Amino acid sequence: MRKIGLLIGGGECPGVNSIIKSIVPKCLEHGIEVYGFKNGWEGVLNGSVRKLTTDELDEAHVLGAPIIGSSRVNILHHEDAFSRCKAVIDQNELEALIVVGGDDTLGVADFFQRKGVNVVGIPKTIDNDLSGTEYSFGFDTAANVATEAIDRLHTNSKHNSRCFVVEVMGRNTGWIALQAGLAAGAHVVLIPEFPKTLDEIASIIEERRQNGKFYTIVCVAEGFDLEEMRIDYNTLEKDDYGNVRMEQKHIASTLAKLLEAKTGIPTRFSVLGHVIRGGIPTAFDRVIGSKFGSKAVELIVEKQYGYMVALQGSEIVPVDLEKAIVRKKVDEVFYHAAGYHSYQY
Ligand code: F6P
Repeated sequence: MRKIGLLIGGGECPGVNSIIKSIVPKCLEHGIEVYGFKNGWEGVLNGSVRKLTTDELDEAHVLGAPIIGSSRVNILHHEDAFSRCKAVIDQNELEALIVVGGDDTLGVADFFQRKGVNVVGIPKTIDNDLSGTEYSFGFDTAANVATEAIDRLHTNSKHNSRCFVVEVMGRNTGWIALQAGLAAGAHVVLIPEFPKTLDEIASIIEERRQNGKFYTIVCVAEGFDLEEMRIDYNTLEKDDYGNVRMEQKHIASTLAKLLEAKTGIPTRFSVLGHVIRGGIPTAFDRVIGSKFGSKAVELIVEKQYGYMVALQGSEIVPVDLEKAIVRKKVDEVFYHAAGYHSYQY
């Protein structure tokens, strides 16, 4: 019997259990047992691992949190991390690892791959910022929940003739803000990739007023920077991977205050935060999760390692892990197609 390990790293991401539900039975069909590490790389470091069975997977696809746990712990901070992990992998006779995560978790996978451990990656990030794939699972659920919330805020904004600033996740990229903002008809979308000044944002709101439109929805990605805010990132708390914890920026509340002061228009804000990534996954995330899982097993069966599975068009294809962990930014084509570069709103 061949044996492989499976681990999930990083933040909450809807659809994650559909991956496990697809991998375990497909591996067994090919005579491969799957061992699940508890809480991602931490489990590999501590040797916390158990054999996964199909019995525990029946209802798994509707659960948000992974049945084997996840963590954001960067094990590479331990000097002897690689040798400890390698010993665990060898003791359990695991010939490869399927690693499910975003750029941090897959970055560690890439490091292991270069050190000779066989790895296959699966893209997991609500931010959708891994390269080589059109979608990562989790993004669709997050964007849909954000869309519904913005739809609802339209009512309040219109009812009170006020401006509303809605903040969504997106630490380095604006995929969620643009997807949800466009889908929900936000009038302004602010993302890290395309800077706008306070004057520019205020003038969109004022122009709408002059045209008899008394309410405006501004959707802002948490990673967006406003020059006027002069944030000193060095003073902000970071996670284990050195990522700044974005909630400390207070981009939505600050922007709302600045806009109200500049335009004289009553302005409120709402931070959607972790709400958008919780709960039941969309059908898309469950299905794409299953397809990613299935392709990962195919690569394991064929002993093709060093890849991340990816969605390109309607195909699931392998892409070099090394290239996949490079950050994918919102491109001009999408931003311009959405119309947020101009003041037409
Ligand atoms: O996975 C990235 C991300 O979605 C960021 O957009 C966000 O800043 C971060 O996760 C927050 O997650 P947590 O608070 O769970 O670390």
